[in-house]
Amino acid sequence: MVAIRRFEPRDAARVSAVIRETMAVSNSGDYPPERLRPLIDYFSPEKVALLAAERDCLVAEEDGRLVGTIGLDGAELVTFFVLPAYQGRGIGARLLAAIEELARARGVARVTVDSSITGERFYASRGYARTGASFEGTAGPQIGMEKHLT
Ligand SMILES: CC(C)(COP(=O)(O)OP(=O)(O)OC[C@H]1O[C@@H](n2cnc3c(N)ncnc32)[C@H](O)[C@@H]1OP(=O)(O)O)[C@@H](O)C(=O)NCCC(=O)NCCS
Repeated sequence: MVAIRRFEPRDAARVSAVIRETMAVSNSGDYPPERLRPLIDYFSPEKVALLAAERDCLVAEEDGRLVGTIGLDGAELVTFFVLPAYQGRGIGARLLAAIEELARARGVARVTVDSSITGERFYASRGYARTGASFEGTAGPQIGMEKHLT
């Protein structure tokens, strides 16, 4: 069974591993390797711990295995990843619903996300709309999207 819970400092290495593996596998079709590599390197356990201390961060755990994560930085969704082997089973949908609930509780009326190419369809089917043309992000094209929570 999958449990969604708040990030704890002891999760840092496992969250880093989820981000790094998912980027390397699932986002390799979105971005060229030479631009993806620095981003993969960036999300070290130490960096993940620092980021999680200054934003909201949730994790998904199944049978003791950490399989997904999502973050909220103000009104912006960040670092949303589900391990490739666990994708397509509704874990991402549950993480998204949980972080939207947290955003609502914080009084956020409109959530934004700079989506990967891979993520666009997922967000679109969950009430997110494009805010404009795609733009050049850190590793390549990204799509600005938003959802009104009220
Ligand atoms: C985006 C992401 C977090 C979604 O997580 P997930 O656990 O796969 O999400 P869900 O299972 O709830 O939904 C996945 C969708 O793909 C479909 N799907 C079916 N089989 C699938 C498979 N084998 N693999 C992935 N998705 C599959 C699901 O039916 C669902 O479709 P829908 O959007 O039309 O409902 C995940 O795909 C991911 O980590 N992607 C790479 C990182 C990324 O780009 N993140 C977004 C950054 S902005």
